[in-house]
Order: sequence, then structure tokens, then C-alpha cells
Amino acid sequence: MSGWTIRPERPGDEAAIHDLVARAFAPMPFSEGDEQDLVDALRAAGDLIQSLVAADSAGTIIGHISFSPVTVDQEACGWFQMAPVSVSPEVQRSGIGSALIETGIARLKAEGARGVAVVGNPAYYERFGFTQVPGLAPLSAHDAPYFRAMVLAGPAPQGILRYAPAFG
Ligand SMILES: CC(C)(COP(=O)(O)OP(=O)(O)OC[C@H]1O[C@@H](n2cnc3c(N)ncnc32)[C@H](O)[C@@H]1OP(=O)(O)O)[C@@H](O)C(=O)NCCC(=O)NCCS
Repeated sequence: MSGWTIRPERPGDEAAIHDLVARAFAPMPFSEGDEQDLVDALRAAGDLIQSLVAADSAGTIIGHISFSPVTVDQEACGWFQMAPVSVSPEVQRSGIGSALIETGIARLKAEGARGVAVVGNPAYYERFGFTQVPGLAPLSAHDAPYFRAMVLAGPAPQGILRYAPAFG
């Protein structure tokens, strides 16, 4: 698919983002069906520090990515969690997810972020440069096998990484 652009979320996008995230995750067997509520909760808490959408030529939102601050050993350290990433099922596998990830990380780096963490399929995220960072681990043992990180400005923090409170 071509003819889409990426831009920051604007006031009025909230309902379309909620619907898109719900539709993207609905078919996923690992989903608990609440990813759209997570985005709303991050926004309400002031933790949706970067929210980008992909919009088609008609302006319809077909992709979305969220970044929120994390702590390492309970200290803010300029690191962010990339989640969730959502692309409308009809247009998946046409490069929109990759563009949202690459654009989001580049914008964060330009603003001085020191790193980004993600929990997901390593086969997908490692292609963007996410790796296992020795000494950096999520609080959740369940997430640990799927946890990857990308250092944007070193050194990498060492310790237990905790997501924003909206993650529960
Ligand atoms: C995951 C997602 C954001 C990727 O967006 P996308 O626009 O479809 O991805 P892109 O077109 O940029 O990249 C497609 C490539 O990623 C791969 N890919 C897509 N989703 C993948 C997944 N869940 N696991 C592994 N690989 C995946 C495809 O095989 C494809 O690779 P190929 O081109 O070598 O065949 C999108 O599929 C989606 O919204 N999925 C449902 C929600 C979800 O699972 N989000 C991520 C949670 S961790």
C-alpha cells in the first residue's frame, strides 16, 4: 500500500486510535483485548510522550505507535517503552509498522532519548536493531524472553526496567 503519511497524534484522533488498536490486536492469540485501553490510560496519565499515527490519503488512521517513559531501578533515565504498535489488519505487511517504528525511534533520538525497550516477537523487532542488553531486564519474568532494547546514547542502564503505571 502507498499513499500514507506519518504524523503526531492530534486532538480528536483519540477515538480512531482506540478503534484501530482494538482491530489490530483482536486476531492476535496473545492479546488480552485491552491494548486500546492501555493507550487511553497512558494518555490520561500524561505518559503518552510520543504518539504517532499513519494516515491514508483520505485521512483515515491506519497505524499507530505509542512510546512511554520507563524507569530502571526506579530512576528515570531517558529510556522509553515502545508499545503498543498497531496496523490496521487490511494493510499489514506493507511497511507501515516498520515506518512507525523507525520514525518514532528517530524522533525520540533527536529529542535526546537514551534508549528504547520493547516486548514482542524478537524475530520482528531485532530487524530494527533491538537486542538483548546484558544487565537490563524487565520486572516481569513473563516478559523476559520477549524483552529487547536499543541503546540510543550510551552507556546502557543496568537494572530492572519498569513500565509506566498504566501497564499494570
Ligand atoms: C506487528 C505489526 C505492527 C507490524 O506492522 P506491519 O505494517 O504489518 O509490518 P511491516 O509491513 O512494516 O513489516 C512486515 C514484516 O514484518 C513481519 N511481521 C509482521 N508482524 C510480525 C510478527 N508479529 N512477528 C514476526 N514478524 C512479523 C512480516 O513477516 C514482514 O516481514 P517480511 O516483509 O520479511 O515478510 C502489525 O502486523 C500489527 O499491527 N499486528 C497486530 C498487533 C501486534 O501484534 N502488534 C505488535 C505487538 S508486539
